[in-house]
Amino acid sequence: MTASQTALQDAAHLFTELVGGEPEGVWSSAGRANLIGEHTDYNEGFVLPFAIQYRTYAAARLRRDGVLRVASTFAPGAVELPVPALADAFGGSAGAAVAAGTVPEWAAYPLGVAWAALAAAGRAGTDVPGVDIAIASDVPVGAGLSSSAAIEGSVAAALNDLWRLDLAPLDLAKAGRRAENEAVGAPTGIMDQVSSIMGRADAATFLDCRSLETRSVDLGLEREGLVLLAIDTKVEHAHASGGYRDRRAACERGAAALGVPSLRDVGAADLDRARDLLDEVTFRRVRHIVTENQRVLDTVGALGASGPRAIGELLVASHASMRDDFEISVPELDTAVEAALGAGAIGARMTGGGFGGSAIALVEASAADAVADAAARAFADRGYTAPHVFAVVPSEGARRDS
Ligand code: GLA
Repeated sequence: MTASQTALQDAAHLFTELVGGEPEGVWSSAGRANLIGEHTDYNEGFVLPFAIQYRTYAAARLRRDGVLRVASTFAPGAVELPVPALADAFGGSAGAAVAAGTVPEWAAYPLGVAWAALAAAGRAGTDVPGVDIAIASDVPVGAGLSSSAAIEGSVAAALNDLWRLDLAPLDLAKAGRRAENEAVGAPTGIMDQVSSIMGRADAATFLDCRSLETRSVDLGLEREGLVLLAIDTKVEHAHASGGYRDRRAACERGAAALGVPSLRDVGAADLDRARDLLDEVTFRRVRHIVTENQRVLDTVGALGASGPRAIGELLVASHASMRDDFEISVPELDTAVEAALGAGAIGARMTGGGFGGSAIALVEASAADAVADAAARAFADRGYTAPHVFAVVPSEGARRDS
């Protein structure tokens, strides 16, 4: 039995234990890794993430009353709220219900998605039946692989079917982002939700975060005998606070000073002017976004023209830009990248929001063990907690499993 089938069964068992009887169905959505394009999403730029094989499952069934009840293997007990109370809980200032302790943080993801999906479908304030939802996941938590987007995607897919909301995949992704921004209070972009929901096997999802157009980009890893490894540094990160929020604010400051709506509107040719106008730190933040957008476009071009072996240098340049200009790497992530490259990886970079989480490395399948060993040795030499190294396989996004 694969790990994911176990999580599927965990969700179904949890449902039976807490609610009784069988769920009406089980829906799931994937974790994600980002191949390239970091912190570009909330700057209306380009990203190229992929859904991974680790998934979150939501076992669900309609109730006769109007109560929404969620349970998960993350925390004991269930959290319930009458559907009409969702707007009171989440319609105020961002993250208020979580900050006040009215809704536990983990439950703000599924309940926030319910609130946002109803609003998106124009069904807020209408009479919708209650739902019982039991959630289980094998997406590593805290590894920067979007365990939260996987919860949002699985619950959004379940509610879309059970409530017959008729929302398109992109609308479900938007509802997930809204839940994260407004219900949970994390100021993230839309990359994770789009990737989790809209991923395809052996492909990455190219997303223009301004137009929200997506395109599946063939990776051809298996054909080429390559694998992508995740090197989880075990350094925990949080996006609701701290560095992520600061970087976002710096980007907004930079765009305002340059007189553009977002950094998407700044090109390489504008960087000289930006250097004159901005303070040194803000300039480097802006330069990361501008060069990273170009690297995403170049990566899509290189994949199409020459295949995955041609993107190594772009991955390495992306990491350097995050380390030196955007300053979101940590020594453990730099060590993971250096060790992977030293052991022959074609390319490697930290992935996700930064300040911890995972790096990814593109490697020959035959070199995967050597890269994992090199990372383990480098971490041991520096006295870091041992990293967890595993393959991340570009996989399908949200679906109904049963
Ligand atoms: C986190 C956020 C995303 C994106 C990345 C950085 O994963 O949730 O929206 O901003 O960081 O690329």
